[in-house]
Amino acid sequence: MRSFSFADRYGPWALVTGGASGIGREFARQIAARGVNLALADIQEKLLPDAAAELEARFTVKARIITVDLSTPDFMARIRPVIADISIGLLVNNAGYGSAGGFMKTDVGEMLDAIAVNCRAPMALARELGPAMIERGRGGMIFLSSSSALQGTPIVANYAGTKAYNLVLAEALWDELRGSGVDVLALCPGATNTPAIVKSGARLDNVPGMPFMEPGPVVAEAFAALGRRPCIVPGRMNRIAAFVMTRLMTRAAAVTLMGKNTRRLYPEA
Ligand SMILES: NC(=O)c1ccc[n+]([C@@H]2O[C@H](COP(=O)([O-])OP(=O)(O)OC[C@H]3O[C@@H](n4cnc5c(N)ncnc54)[C@H](OP(=O)(O)O)[C@@H]3O)[C@@H](O)[C@H]2O)c1
Repeated sequence: MRSFSFADRYGPWALVTGGASGIGREFARQIAARGVNLALADIQEKLLPDAAAELEARFTVKARIITVDLSTPDFMARIRPVIADISIGLLVNNAGYGSAGGFMKTDVGEMLDAIAVNCRAPMALARELGPAMIERGRGGMIFLSSSSALQGTPIVANYAGTKAYNLVLAEALWDELRGSGVDVLALCPGATNTPAIVKSGARLDNVPGMPFMEPGPVVAEAFAALGRRPCIVPGRMNRIAAFVMTRLMTRAAAVTLMGKNTRRLYPEA
């Protein structure tokens, strides 16, 4: 299988949710650099045209944009018409968000929206696009999880829960689709330098030694892992931390340590 080129295996088009910003925008760049056309779906109506124009100017690909709020129940109706005449060979379920704060003080509607964007939309898109990939005998799906999904993570409890959903969904699909030609990967980044983390006000300086990666290497590690394994924690230091937290510590100790760190990251929460 590895003898196919990236574009043969995952082209001719990729759909990237949250493709106008941060990790999603970097995914779009690295996919375009491999010669695959892009459909970018995002709520950021103003950023989308720039993101698409950049891809078409820098790479020999076409780019389409879909302005969509993935928290709405009928979001698929906005996506379907834009991709009806193209074959999506790669789905990057990247859009996601969550806010920091004590669970009991966080608005229920906001947490339900996060579940819709972070869980319902990736599941529905995989179910929508997966059958055609299986029929073609080739394709890929990447689900954005997070290092917060590897154990309970206080102060971002609902967000971490949504990311755990992506991790276990992707791992199960990796096995179910093995042999079909469709590769599935859960990507579990630690803190990554994107507009979202800046907007969140995370006090990274309060947690000395905490790895902080750029989107470029995070995405590069995802592509190195796609088709080879079900899950990747990008960054050596993040992998060491994940090993210690999940294999050497008790669940109670790991959750307590995460809670200490997130309380330092978000002292006002
Ligand atoms: N950055 C990190 O440290 C980190 C770590 C682990 C995992 N992740 C995961 O990586 C993914 C990308 O995060 P990022 O940091 O790159 O975030 P980002 O910079 O905010 O980019 C995500 C994009 O998705 C959009 N989006 C949010 N809600 C949406 C909705 N309802 N419908 C359509 N689009 C929507 C965002 O728009 P708005 O700007 O309007 O929200 C934004 O344009 C997320 O799933 C996140 O959970 C990030």
